[in-house]
Amino acid sequence: LSLVLLLTICIFLSWSKQHGNQSLPPGPTPIPVLGTPKYMDLSASTKNFPKLSQKYGSVFTIWKMSEPVIVLCGYETVKEALVNHAEQFSERPIIPVMDLSNEGYGLDGRRWRPIRRFTMTSLRNFGMGKMTMEKRVLTESKYLIQAVSETGGKPFNPRMFLAMAVGNIISSVLFGEHFDYQDKQLEELLSSTSRHLCNIVPVLLRFSVIRQKVVKEKLYLQNFVMKYIKHHKETLKPESPRDFIDYYLLKIKEVEHEMDPDFCETSLLVIVIGLLIAGTDTTASTLKFSLVLMAHYPDVQAKVQQEIDKTTNSLRPPEIMDKPQLPYTNAVIHEIQRVLDLAPTTLFHAVTEDIKFRGYTIPKGTTVIPFLSSVLFDPSQWETPEVFNPGHFLDEEGQFRTRLAFMPFSAGKRVCLGENLARMELFLLFSALLQRFTFTLPPGTERQNSKYLNLNKTEIIASGQICAVPRSLSK
Ligand code: HEM
Repeated sequence: LSLVLLLTICIFLSWSKQHGNQSLPPGPTPIPVLGTPKYMDLSASTKNFPKLSQKYGSVFTIWKMSEPVIVLCGYETVKEALVNHAEQFSERPIIPVMDLSNEGYGLDGRRWRPIRRFTMTSLRNFGMGKMTMEKRVLTESKYLIQAVSETGGKPFNPRMFLAMAVGNIISSVLFGEHFDYQDKQLEELLSSTSRHLCNIVPVLLRFSVIRQKVVKEKLYLQNFVMKYIKHHKETLKPESPRDFIDYYLLKIKEVEHEMDPDFCETSLLVIVIGLLIAGTDTTASTLKFSLVLMAHYPDVQAKVQQEIDKTTNSLRPPEIMDKPQLPYTNAVIHEIQRVLDLAPTTLFHAVTEDIKFRGYTIPKGTTVIPFLSSVLFDPSQWETPEVFNPGHFLDEEGQFRTRLAFMPFSAGKRVCLGENLARMELFLLFSALLQRFTFTLPPGTERQNSKYLNLNKTEIIASGQICAVPRSLSK
């Protein structure tokens, strides 16, 4: 009897919470205690959210058990929230796994803001020591080209090579290390960051086995990074910092007189691991998808190659300064990122205070999902949203044009912290690879033949194979 009574009270409390706030945006009716579990399945979001948006409008509420979650759809709405009300939409909900592993320095903590600012300035401005960011990427592109050429035109899955190249670039920026592609340490590091990312599914954390797995991956990464921090401390020369860890150690010294400073060795460890996790799989997956897409669209690939050959005289690898002369290549990279739609629901946001938004009231701390897919495919912003069309980024003279609805890195106060580095990697590695190779599908693989893109993106990124046929560069 007491169990039934307890259950009834729970259901009543949950029901009154779900129905008590009439000024929340509309949405499907939640089930007491359970909420709207069907719509919290984010892998189905690209199918479910557009339907809900048609029914309830561009701002609607779904329920994670008894907690409301606000979904924002379409360019105008997402921009209004993330850009026009940037500060109010800039918090993160507390993510249990982040708490578990970040020791108070997670993305949801107040301590994150100064660390984010410092990291962004570091990545953007000084390119870390004597080696500029561009030089680091160009150096790595040589190793990548060598590894790809060793496949001898036979079918292969380029995923690991790309992850190694991108992993090496971020390691070089963070702690000045370059690993050989055969080095088991690099392989283990990449698998570890990737597994850790997959493990960050908060709902699973209730199961102790998965909790243990997250902790184990984190411990591996911690030990790995600690080794570098220790070595950097022993060899640091304040007048010539070599990489991110050196700059951070100097910052720690600068603020050591402060009570409870944000910059300390624990936060250094957390940010270095965070950048390794966030900065590898994302860019490597985008590159992998780019190469497979080129194999599906040989005309586009040939046009990119022609432009690169003309600009570089087929002699030297493309550099950032070539970008203005490579408008088509630049447009293709942007269009690849648009159709790939790598982070459809981005990382969740939360509101910093009770706010009025589009006539609704959203209480402080409520989770918000900016549905980036709906921006990248918004029919009011793109001429042919469902078609792979580099023309979206070209003006009538064939010059590159930026588009405000291009938001694969999100926007506002929480825009991707590695956006500049990722853009540089995509441009330099993609163009260097296309200068050297023509990518084709393995014999027997069916080419995408409709102008509407209907490829299975997840499958392509995980297991798609291609052949890299060397191009002759002598003219
Ligand atoms: C956050 C996309 C590469 C580091 C994000 C977010 C997106 C994103 C959508 C969430 C933004 C939001 O919450 O509104 C991408 C894509 C990449 C990429 C598409 C590559 C193609 C990178 C790289 C790094 C990085 C190379 C590191 C060097 C981060 C970090 C955050 C973040 C640290 C959290 C920022 C915060 O909460 O303040 N990224 N990212 N990302 N990204 Fe990236």
